[in-house]
Amino acid sequence: MDTLHSIDKSRIPQHIAVIMDGNGRWAKERGQDRVYGHHEGVVSVRDIVNTCGEIGVQYLTLYAFSTENWNRPQEEVNALMELLVNTIRKEVEELKKNNVRLHVIGDFLSLPDICQKELNEAVEMTVMNTGLNLILALSYSSRWEIMEAAKKFAVDVQSGKADIDSLDDEQFAKYLTTSAFPDPELMIRTSGEHRISNYLLYQLAYAELYFTPVHWPDFRRENLLLAIQDYQQRERRFGKTSEQIQKNLTRHV
Ligand code: IPE
Ligand code: IPE
Ligand code: MG
Repeated sequence: MDTLHSIDKSRIPQHIAVIMDGNGRWAKERGQDRVYGHHEGVVSVRDIVNTCGEIGVQYLTLYAFSTENWNRPQEEVNALMELLVNTIRKEVEELKKNNVRLHVIGDFLSLPDICQKELNEAVEMTVMNTGLNLILALSYSSRWEIMEAAKKFAVDVQSGKADIDSLDDEQFAKYLTTSAFPDPELMIRTSGEHRISNYLLYQLAYAELYFTPVHWPDFRRENLLLAIQDYQQRERRFGKTSEQIQKNLTRHV
């Protein structure tokens, strides 16, 4: 019996964000090159995407390549870009079949042309799908995103389309790359690091954070279910008291 049986199906997070970390260390532990870890990481991506689709998660955002990752050795960057192109090419039919809609957030134009082309095609091919929204964060960093949003807002103010005094957090969120998606309720980071690494800083304001020592290539369906189980045991208070939350819960039963 897997953990699925002990999960409350009515309280599955709508949006899960993941920092897929530990591919390099996973490979090193096996005496392999870091790139081998990235390849094995793709197997986990497939498994987690399928599981999310199966249990009814609506949005899954995966941190696949950060702005800072451009500073890695050139061979590793090249290998990652090549893996991205090959994976998208190979998986797009499967995404279509499984009703998964692909989205990309990040500094799209900084990606190599071939990546842009494959991604554009895959996004286009899955645009009619109504199941899981799979959001790949590529060449993404939150500070970049927030700065871009601030610039776009300033342009709208200059042209008279927006008004400084009426700006609130909801309106500001419309300028972010994630404007079409709700905020994640759960953020998972693998491989034992306890940091956010420039990921969705605005959107994670009230997310529950889950850290596991498991490296990404070992993170599979059961690990995800355990994370969701842990999430379901938390009390999300949003600044209120526990008593207020409990009172509201009993009122709605
Ligand atoms: C995550 O694994 C994948 C990317 C950042 C692209 P890492 O490559 O960061 O693996 P570690 O953290 O060095 O083990
Ligand atoms: C974060 O992982 C980025 C991705 C998972 C794509 P890193 O491995 O790059 O993060 P740091 O540098 O250890 O914080
Ligand atoms: Mg890492």
